[in-house]
Amino acid sequence: MTDSTFPLISYDPSGAMRPETGIGPADLDWLAPRLVAARNEVLDDLALWRLGKPVPEEKKPLDAAFIDLPERLLEEFAAKGDQSEVARIQATAGRLIEQAGAVVVLGIGGSYMGARALFEACCHPYHNELSRQRRGQRPQIFFEGNNVDNDAMAGLVDLLADVEPRRWAIIVISKSGSTLETAVAFRLLLGHLRAARGGDFEEVRDLVVPVTGRDSRLRKLGEAIGCPEIFPIPEGVGGRFSIMSAVGLLPAAVMGLDIVKLLEGAAAANYQFRNTDPGVNPTLNYVGICHLMESLRGATTRVLSTWGKGLESVGLWYDQLLAESLGKDGRGALPLTCVNTRDLHSRGQQHQQGRRDKLITNLVVERTKREPIVIPRSELDQDRLNELAGKSLPEVLGAALAGTNQAYGDDGRPTTDLRLPRLDEASLGQLFQMLMLATVVEGRLIGVNPYGQPGVEDYKRNMNALLRGKRG
Ligand code: PA5
Repeated sequence: MTDSTFPLISYDPSGAMRPETGIGPADLDWLAPRLVAARNEVLDDLALWRLGKPVPEEKKPLDAAFIDLPERLLEEFAAKGDQSEVARIQATAGRLIEQAGAVVVLGIGGSYMGARALFEACCHPYHNELSRQRRGQRPQIFFEGNNVDNDAMAGLVDLLADVEPRRWAIIVISKSGSTLETAVAFRLLLGHLRAARGGDFEEVRDLVVPVTGRDSRLRKLGEAIGCPEIFPIPEGVGGRFSIMSAVGLLPAAVMGLDIVKLLEGAAAANYQFRNTDPGVNPTLNYVGICHLMESLRGATTRVLSTWGKGLESVGLWYDQLLAESLGKDGRGALPLTCVNTRDLHSRGQQHQQGRRDKLITNLVVERTKREPIVIPRSELDQDRLNELAGKSLPEVLGAALAGTNQAYGDDGRPTTDLRLPRLDEASLGQLFQMLMLATVVEGRLIGVNPYGQPGVEDYKRNMNALLRGKRG
């Protein structure tokens, strides 16, 4: 893909490259050859995977197949039409939209956070509270299986009893197919769904869609239930890198999102990543600044300052990506998501005057989806807001961002800006892909395998041993 039909996201590192922050363009130039080498290694990893060559021991696990997944899905869609995976996802989503008043998406970690991020960023902020008609006939969307919370589960069951129309559906997502949180939630909710539909598997199988890995327990369960569609999570695509597979695409399609645009956005980010030089390559520039700030200036905390409520879960998706990928061998920066201006009133003090261990990346959306709301003039001016009458909420937010950057800059605190033209599928596709690429490039740059999460397995083993009465 060379020329996109949508605007590209941009990365402006200038607030981190000033005399007060101690990092300048010369540092980025110095790092450039190592950034290019890390990019080449990431692309060689992909080639290794695709050619099916043996993976060297130190590279295991190697989950590089997420990189060209968007292009592969788009090519298959163009070549095979209705028989392609994208079309099957769209068809299944269409069926669920028609049949179900609500869809519960079950999954945890990488099998959950991407869908949640898309929901909060792209759907109406009060989607579930709107009438079905005002939701464009789309189902309500709930997320479960991402925790073990008795009262939250009981509350969801209460709510599902009142869904209109009375049929609800389950999308259950787990690559391993054996993650306890998700498996328990599935068993419980499947029981409630059966009870609501007369107790027969015949009556519920159309309302259950598993998304899972090859040969998993969940796949076998889905087959036993007789689910007409079970979507794959491709081999070589790890959980937190799976948003461009059915893991993210199926829930997104049920939300009514344009999944082709999402994939095209990701493909556009890939194109830029592969074909532009450091200095004009947003992914490499982002990695470069993060790495220089951490290694030379001690900025071990990476704050993703999101400017808009719809971006909070995008930040949480990135928290997981960075923490699970690079938090190994006693290393890895600490990710922290903020939502501004809300968190200027909670964390802002520390970011302005606390320890100098932070790099702040502002995640900013350039155009609102809705018409800007303007502050009205009022005959009661005790609040002195008539001075601001005529200013819009985006203008107020813009002033808050500029004022915050200025205040941090004046004190030598580094900021960078990651700008999305719109909060839509094309921009988010680019952003997700760019951040996944950045994470694996940084891993290769610092010699940490970004794939796999061996530390997470420890708690799972212990928990299972405690519950099942076996030693881990
Ligand atoms: O990034 C990862 O691989 C993890 O966060 C997994 O997504 C998470 O542990 C859930 O695993 P599974 O999809 O096997 O249920």
